Amino acid sequence: SETGSLAIIVLGASGDLAKKKTFPALFNLYHQGFLNPDEVHIFGYARTKISDEDLRDRIRGYLVDEKNASEKAEALSKFLQLIKYVSGPYDSEEGFKRLDKAISEHEISKKVSEGSSRRLFYLALPPSVYPPVCKMIKEWCTNKSDLGGWTRIVVEKPFGKDLESAEQLSSQIGKLFDEQQIYRIDHYLGKELVQNMLVLRFANRFFLPLWNRDNIDNVQIVFREDFGTEGRGGYFDEYGIIRDIIQNHLLQASVLCLVAMEKPISLKPEHIRDEKVKVLQSVIPIKDEEVVLGQYEGYKDDPTVPNDSNTPTFATTILRIDNERWEGVPFILKAGKAMSSKKADIRIQFKDVPGDIFKCMYLEQIEPFSHTKYMYRYQKNCWSKLSCNATGQKQGRNEFVIRLQPSEAMYMKLTVKQPGLEMQTVQSELDLSYKQRYQGVSIPEAYERLILDTIKGDQQHFVRRDELKAAWEIFTPLLHRIEKGEVKSIPYKAGSRGPAEADQLLKKAGYLQTHGYIWIPPTL
Ligand code: BG6
Repeated sequence: SETGSLAIIVLGASGDLAKKKTFPALFNLYHQGFLNPDEVHIFGYARTKISDEDLRDRIRGYLVDEKNASEKAEALSKFLQLIKYVSGPYDSEEGFKRLDKAISEHEISKKVSEGSSRRLFYLALPPSVYPPVCKMIKEWCTNKSDLGGWTRIVVEKPFGKDLESAEQLSSQIGKLFDEQQIYRIDHYLGKELVQNMLVLRFANRFFLPLWNRDNIDNVQIVFREDFGTEGRGGYFDEYGIIRDIIQNHLLQASVLCLVAMEKPISLKPEHIRDEKVKVLQSVIPIKDEEVVLGQYEGYKDDPTVPNDSNTPTFATTILRIDNERWEGVPFILKAGKAMSSKKADIRIQFKDVPGDIFKCMYLEQIEPFSHTKYMYRYQKNCWSKLSCNATGQKQGRNEFVIRLQPSEAMYMKLTVKQPGLEMQTVQSELDLSYKQRYQGVSIPEAYERLILDTIKGDQQHFVRRDELKAAWEIFTPLLHRIEKGEVKSIPYKAGSRGPAEADQLLKKAGYLQTHGYIWIPPTL
């Protein structure tokens, strides 16, 4: 592994992202021994004129929870001493010259001659300043070639607002740095169960023959949050839920691509990313009738949101992948703010069993959401429902669910015989709940893992330029139509399931809701 100086420069050091995500991730890496104190130095850069100590005070409270504060106190104070602050503008050389001087001093003190000079720039900034900041870094702050090492740039979404602006941004940055130096973060790619997808799909014989249009009826990728856009209305109104969540976290690099892609030739980052791009390029244009947008009531009370805003805070859209494996299978992407619950999951619903000999055992729902309460009676060579208010619906289809968060789990819904003397069927599950199965293992924060990858130089879990372009190609026409008011957001109650029209769309797409069964995360 590489040695020498490692300078991590957080630009936008006093902003929200830096405080809430970047610095805590760096501290956790440090605390776990992934950042060598003999090599690393962290620099904060922003416009505000404050001292090193002021920056440390501003971020201190975000780095440890109250409950483990005393245990981590020593590490915390050592970590904070590694942070130096440099203030300056984002578009002129004087600040960046000072920044370079500070980094170089650190490199000398860390005897870089015995190793290399590694410089990682983390842009916790709005994308409007990416081009000038990248230009300044390139001109004044890259690693000195005689010392070896590297310079890398980490950027956060939103990477543009539509295809054209994203391409413009990419080409501006692309003129300054090679693709190998650019790390576009989509933090969903750092989530444990997203990272598990490749293993799950390609290391298990179970799934190989089933993972296609012959067996899978529909796929749902769902993100819900039980809070609104509190405090972020101004940003959010310009972007909306499609850009904030769907186009990136649910589709782009992450979830849909991993579910739908073909097996890569190898685990090399480029091979994996090649396959993801192919999926995105096979998506056909979204039809208006396969989109339902919503906006929660109360969203416009935020003074930073215009009164006539049509910005969706909820969306369900169906994507169709026109290839041999997936033609005809709807991929339903659904995301919403201010919903009834907070969770993200992938739900693969299988087709009905052909020639089902149990099909006469239609269920009756005696008590909603209790999975042991379905009763059947064997009469005249057939199972029949026990009482008269039967739903007449099939109990449920096989489903494979990957719960990304909270309560990470994978479970498979299946029909089994209800244990006991009577012959009854019941929906049950094979459940791999991480908390139970991996007790005592702490699941790393997405940002920790991704920042460590940037230091190691592993681009597998970052978005490549052509991936980004292909993702914008899918959503740009719809986004433009929303902006023109041609597709309207339907109001929904905060704390609800979103507009009823979205459930109707799901049904139309073929999704069959399981009745009377709900997966309950195990409590320890
Ligand atoms: C961010 C979005 O990228 O992801 C937020 O901008 C959203 O709107 C957040 O709340 C969700 O991330 P997580 O990791 O909490 O699911």
